Order: sequence, then C-alpha cells, then structure tokens
Amino acid sequence: MAVVGIIPAAGSGERLGGSGPKAFVVCGGRPLLEWSLEVLDAVCDRVVVAVPAGTESAGGALGPEAGRDWVEGGSSRSASVRAALAGAPEATVVVVQDAARPLLTRELVERCVEAVAEGVDGAIAAAPMTDTVKQADADGRILRTLDRSTLWSIQTPQAFDAGALRSALAVDEEMLAAATDDASLVEAAGGSVRVVEASPENIKVTTPADLERAEALLRARGPLPSGQRPSC
Ligand code: CTP
Ligand code: MG
Repeated sequence: MAVVGIIPAAGSGERLGGSGPKAFVVCGGRPLLEWSLEVLDAVCDRVVVAVPAGTESAGGALGPEAGRDWVEGGSSRSASVRAALAGAPEATVVVVQDAARPLLTRELVERCVEAVAEGVDGAIAAAPMTDTVKQADADGRILRTLDRSTLWSIQTPQAFDAGALRSALAVDEEMLAAATDDASLVEAAGGSVRVVEASPENIKVTTPADLERAEALLRARGPLPSGQRPSC
C-alpha cells in the first residue's frame, strides 16, 4: 500500500479576507497548512501540496526548498486535488486533507486509511448533525424537516482508493467546480463511501471568527509551537 497525502492549499481565502492565501495565514503559531502537513507526514509515505499559482516560497518547513512536493493548484478545489494526484502516480491510497482544517489528528487519518484498506472506495471524516435541519423553498417556506439521525456534517480527512478517486476526478471542469468535496464525485461515479465519526471540533477555517476559534481549540490541546511569528 502506497499512501499519498494530498493537501489542497491553493485557495485565495476570500472569506477570511487576509492579505495572502489562507493556507499561509498564521494560526496557533504556524501557517495553517503546517498543521495538516505535520499529521499527514506522520501517516503517509509522501505528501503533495497544491499551492496557488505564483507561490514562490512559504519559507521554513513548507516550501520546495525543504524538499516538499508542490504542484500548482487549479481553478477549483477538486481541480487542485486532481493536479496534486497527477503528481502521485504511485499512490494506491490517497488521503485528501484541506489546509483550512488545522484540527485533524493522526488517529483520525489512520481510521480513514484503515477503512479504505478494509475495502470501501472512500472513508470520510464526519460529525453527527446536532442542529435540526429543514429544507425550504426559494421563499423560505419550509418544505420538510429532515431526519437528523441520518445526517452527517462532512469534514476532511477523506481517504480513497486511488483508482476510484482518479476515475471520479476524470470529469469536466464544471463538475469539478460544483463539487464541495471529493467524496461526492466518487459517489456520483458509483463508488462506495462511508463516514468515519470525528469530533465536531475538527472545524474548517473560513471566516476570521473561525480562525480565532481554531486557535483557541489548538491552544486547549497543549502548548503551541514557539516561534517569532505573531499568532492569529
Ligand atoms: N482550495 C484549493 N484550490 C482552489 C480552491 C480551494 O486548493 N482552487 C483549497 C483551499 O486552499 C482550502 C480548501 O481547498 O484548503 C477548502 O477551500 P475553502 O475553505 O473554500 O478555501 P478558499 O477557497 O481559500 O477560501 P474562499 O472560498 O473563502 O476563497
Ligand atoms: Mg473556496
């Protein structure tokens, strides 16, 4: 089994509103990307990172100068995953992990990889829904209340059989752009995907408030990496 980690980190971070790409924004004493890189490095044989076009150096342990595998990302998240996967022909299992989720754990990645090794096409981190979820029409009128006991809020990491992910990503740019995660493309291609229960604290950093919450959660776990960089 050749396990390759892929980190889509090529987004611009518009909703965060910082001065540069979100993956390089400091959170908890280090760039967001570094949290995912550290965990995937511990579990995977190799990690490929999709970065924004024109990224020259992130410095420290992140960039190609430190022997990192970087590829230029695409115009959508899944296009970035496809670009990174093209740089990993040896992969038999792929772990996709958004740079925007710094609270992943090694144990969670391992549980996803194990589930794929046991024979599903995809195994994805997810937390049970705690809110009541309703469907409404364009005017806001409720159509129905969904059965919450069957609903999951989907996260990364997402582990896949590499062949299943490659085929699922072999679609046009429009379909890639419409996908909010890679598992939905594997599902659409007829693949079997299961959830792996994860903590709801494995949040995605989208807005400035998320960045603050992520730092607080990281701090609650233990000492943050020491460095000269200001924290978020
Ligand atoms: N991503 C990527 N390539 C893109 C778009 C997104 O690799 N063309 C990555 C982001 O870097 C992030 C993950 O996909 O790690 C999830 O995307 P999101 O949270 O939407 O990040 P951004 O696209 O950077 O943020 P925004 O949508 O606010 O611009
Ligand atoms: Mg985005």
